[in-house]
Amino acid sequence: MHPDLEKVLITEQELEERIKELGEQISRDYAGKEILVVGILKGAMIFLADLVRSITVPTYFDFMAVSSYGAGARSSGVVRILKDLDRPIEGRHIIIVEDIVDTGLTLNYLVQNLQARNPASLKICTLLDKPSRREVEVTIDYNGFSIPDEFVVGYGLDYNERYRNFPSIGVLKREVYVK
Ligand code: IMP
Repeated sequence: MHPDLEKVLITEQELEERIKELGEQISRDYAGKEILVVGILKGAMIFLADLVRSITVPTYFDFMAVSSYGAGARSSGVVRILKDLDRPIEGRHIIIVEDIVDTGLTLNYLVQNLQARNPASLKICTLLDKPSRREVEVTIDYNGFSIPDEFVVGYGLDYNERYRNFPSIGVLKREVYVK
């Protein structure tokens, strides 16, 4: 284990099994339809790559990049679009794929923004949920794991752009981000 980690919270095997279940559930729910998964960069990249490989309905990708945290570990509440979708989504079945829902501010903004573009449907799939931190209500349709209020990294999630490549999800030692 990396010395900056306090512990591993979710192992590679647990991730693999749960993500396969999510993909199967999505495939059942959208049987006979096409979906467009909207990945939120950069954190959801690895989750999305694994998730879509267990989805069996026709699946298209697009990506958005938003800034919410800047370089720190706390939400600013300000959401800025750094990269928008490549194409219109009107009349399409959209699943937003996010790494983690914390305060809910980012997704609340994204849902309102994408809903205004008139998709046929809009659902949310997140790998992780920290329900105890919620500031605005967000309806999560697919959730990998609910986790306690700890700062986690790995499997796409970062602290200051570090640790995204770790294969499992770990809790970052407090001394790494509380200086
Ligand atoms: P929210 O707007 O507070 O829900 O924050 C969502 C975003 O904050 C996520 O997409 C992550 O980029 C980031 N975030 C929240 N909690 C964590 C964490 O524990 N580790 C890494 N990133 C986090």
